[in-house]
Amino acid sequence: MSAEQKVAVVTGASQGIGAGIVQAFRDRNCRVVATSRSIKPVADADVVTVRGDVGAAETAEKVFKTALDRFGRIDTLVNNAGMFMAKPFTAYSQDDYAVYLSTNVTGFFHMTQRALELMSKQGRGHIVTITTSLVDQPMSSVPAALASLTKGALSAATKALAIEYARTGIRVNAVSPGIIKTPMHPAEAHQALAALHPVGRMGDVSDIVDAVLYLDGAGFVTGEVLHVDGGQAAGHHQL
Ligand SMILES: NC(=O)c1ccc[n+]([C@@H]2O[C@H](COP(=O)([O-])OP(=O)(O)OC[C@H]3O[C@@H](n4cnc5c(N)ncnc54)[C@H](OP(=O)(O)O)[C@@H]3O)[C@@H](O)[C@H]2O)c1
Repeated sequence: MSAEQKVAVVTGASQGIGAGIVQAFRDRNCRVVATSRSIKPVADADVVTVRGDVGAAETAEKVFKTALDRFGRIDTLVNNAGMFMAKPFTAYSQDDYAVYLSTNVTGFFHMTQRALELMSKQGRGHIVTITTSLVDQPMSSVPAALASLTKGALSAATKALAIEYARTGIRVNAVSPGIIKTPMHPAEAHQALAALHPVGRMGDVSDIVDAVLYLDGAGFVTGEVLHVDGGQAAGHHQL
């Protein structure tokens, strides 16, 4: 075990964007603690998986204890676990509200709090959170106010924490995707979803991975919400 190898914690790591981020960190010889509710063990001594609901405080406790016990340091937390449910606002049930808040906001709270405690002791670290460009540019065809309520909070907290920790060696950033080809969207919806981007296509997991890696290496960048959304946050392409 090399003390030089960096260590990343990735939430929502079982599929989609999270799985792509885990692979990218491994390709760069980082060790990874990968967590989600259904994640399975993997045959790689430099990856440890931890099962748990991101909204439960004990999941974050277990994840960071595992990271320290196994790898001895934490360099990066990627807050990727999240959910999306498009509905007219009055159609959201109390259960919808509770699960949205728990997954998108409470998960960020517990994971980020544990990470900042450890990173403060180390005097270095980076936290990057996945939000959504719907926060900046809502679409009448995709009513999703609970996504804005919860992910918008993450964009705001990213800036707040970047400033709170600016002199500590810890950076805090976010990536704001457009609509990305992951299991979140069935293949038959892809054509219609592509048209919702000024560039006329959906994003790929690699587009988000590249942004996370950029921010992770960008020592002078903190408090940034980096839009990787085919122009969605900038404006509209009139058909
Ligand atoms: N795909 C897009 O178009 C898009 C656009 C904007 C933003 N995003 C954001 O990007 C992130 C990843 O999206 P994705 O498309 O890769 O989603 P995805 O394919 O649906 O994967 C979601 C991941 O989050 C985990 N997860 C969900 N609820 C969880 C919970 N309560 N506790 C722990 N883990 C949980 C899932 O694993 P388990 O089921 O094993 O728990 C899975 O690994 C999300 O935050 C999403 O909001 C995605």
